[in-house]
Amino acid sequence: MDFSEDIFLNKLAQTTGAPYLISIERAEGIYLYSPEGKRYTDLISGIGVSNIGHRHPKVIHAIKEQLDKHLHVMVYGEFIQATPNRLAKKLTDLLPPQLNCCYFVNSGTEANEAALKLAKRYTGRTEIISCRKSYHGSTHGSMSVSGNEIKKAAFRPLLPDVRFINFNMPEDLLHITEKTACVIMETVQGDAGVRVPSRDYMKAVRQRCDETGALLILDEIQCGMGRTGTLFAFEQFGIVPDILTLAKALGGGLPIGTFISSKEIMHVLTHDPMLGHITTFGGNPVCCASALATLEVLEEENLVAQVESKGRLLESLLKHPSIKEIRRIGLMFAIDFDSEERVARIVEQAKQLGIICYWFLSHPNSFRIAPPLTITEQQIRESCESILKAIDNA
Ligand SMILES: Cc1ncc(COP(=O)(O)O)c(C=O)c1O
Repeated sequence: MDFSEDIFLNKLAQTTGAPYLISIERAEGIYLYSPEGKRYTDLISGIGVSNIGHRHPKVIHAIKEQLDKHLHVMVYGEFIQATPNRLAKKLTDLLPPQLNCCYFVNSGTEANEAALKLAKRYTGRTEIISCRKSYHGSTHGSMSVSGNEIKKAAFRPLLPDVRFINFNMPEDLLHITEKTACVIMETVQGDAGVRVPSRDYMKAVRQRCDETGALLILDEIQCGMGRTGTLFAFEQFGIVPDILTLAKALGGGLPIGTFISSKEIMHVLTHDPMLGHITTFGGNPVCCASALATLEVLEEENLVAQVESKGRLLESLLKHPSIKEIRRIGLMFAIDFDSEERVARIVEQAKQLGIICYWFLSHPNSFRIAPPLTITEQQIRESCESILKAIDNA
């Protein structure tokens, strides 16, 4: 019963007609194991989550320590608790001085929802500008600012006053005006198939927001936490957002998100109305313990500094005549083929060979590779051999 496909398909709500359908009993490092002991190499980190691998011993230790103290004790923002305090201190120490105040929530989409509310409340404006092909989450507000119309149409009406510009196209920035509350963008677009903007473009975005008084929200829910070769992707573009959103890899395997801004901006959530954003479980101490340990592991194991060379090695090994294009930043890859069908066959073949790779929501001609940053050179070589075999077999 534990791994019954029938229960999974009928008693658990499904999101597609063709789920991946492998059974996983345990996970360790970059590997997942089925109940029969088949080993899978996780080359997508559970979609951007397991940047320090699965069940990192330091994370497990920190979670157990917190379990022995307390679990949930009060809704967000009322009691002083040591672990959320320590996490907020650690994160803000790692960030530029203007990003000095964290609000912890439960997921990426909630972080973006709250960031949009914060920008509207702070500026007193209503217009939101986002980018075509972006993905910011699946709740109503985040969906409203996501670019994929096919995914949105059935759920309209969505948020009013949202305008879309093309990502990495400086001409479009003139659409940002004094009416704009905020611009929300992924620093590196993930589900559009890894789109890396130019440094000049990101500087122009920052400048246009400054000229018009619009707040800049950078969504690093997928590209943050070391994935691109710096702890935060925006560090590579010479700008600082007004609001940063993080989730996924922040929690080291437990659910947590955050939006981070200045104390001055964040203060508006306390009045007119008070409780401008509320959440019961945001800042859950066990999730915060896991996130704090994750940040410490990234630092202590010097993982971020190794990302670029590991990414370069992986890219150099992925040579195949069927590959049309590889887009990469750090250890975040999109690998393009001539058709969606071929990608589906490759993903299936890779699964047979014990390799987990996956497609993108808005770019089905590519598959993604975004392994744990802890992957070793040897593991990269072994994985690439299998991927090339999967491409041959597909
Ligand atoms: C860039 C980006 N923003 C937001 C989200 C939504 O995060 P969550 O699934 O935790 O709500 C995702 C999830 O894939 C994402 O990639």
